[in-house]
Amino acid sequence: MDRYEELVKEIALCKNCVLHEERNMAVAGSGSIGADLMLIGEGPGAEEDKNGVPFVGAAGRLLTDMLDAVDIDRDKLYVTNIVKCRPPKNRTPKDEEAAACLPYLQRQLEIIDPKVILLLGATALRYVLSPNLRITRDRGTWHQVDGRWIMATFHPAALLRDPRKKPDSFDDMVSLKLKIRELGLDV
Ligand code: URA
Repeated sequence: MDRYEELVKEIALCKNCVLHEERNMAVAGSGSIGADLMLIGEGPGAEEDKNGVPFVGAAGRLLTDMLDAVDIDRDKLYVTNIVKCRPPKNRTPKDEEAAACLPYLQRQLEIIDPKVILLLGATALRYVLSPNLRITRDRGTWHQVDGRWIMATFHPAALLRDPRKKPDSFDDMVSLKLKIRELGLDV
């Protein structure tokens, strides 16, 4: 078994926090293991918990549309979440749940080694970059950390709740596309 398969198996069996108690399936991530671009969301929703695949529900469909709008191929990237098991009623993950799950994300980063990371929403921004950043204020700004370029944008579920955020979100997708081009990445 390779390193990635090993990780997926560990996540499927994980009982490191209470979220395992109500899950149907843990959702490790999906996409290309050698991807230059990684997207990180918050945690699986109902559809994802049923299927074991991230971003397949309504927010996932909007995410695919957002990527299509700037001609980014979803098959060429890798998508995962801060927590790999669905929080009850889709509540925000608690600090201890995120802390229990973050070592898995760390291993995904080591294995996949993306050059660019798009954080989807406030939870990903908080745990990947800093709890001092705010999604409304700090989205669209690039950060360089450990040789990777990282930017946050609104979570697609936030766009479904408030479509007035869509123009800012589109600007962020254009900025992502330009960064990919500038770095000459295959996405
Ligand atoms: N929302 C997320 O943050 N992640 C998913 O996988 C689905 C919905």
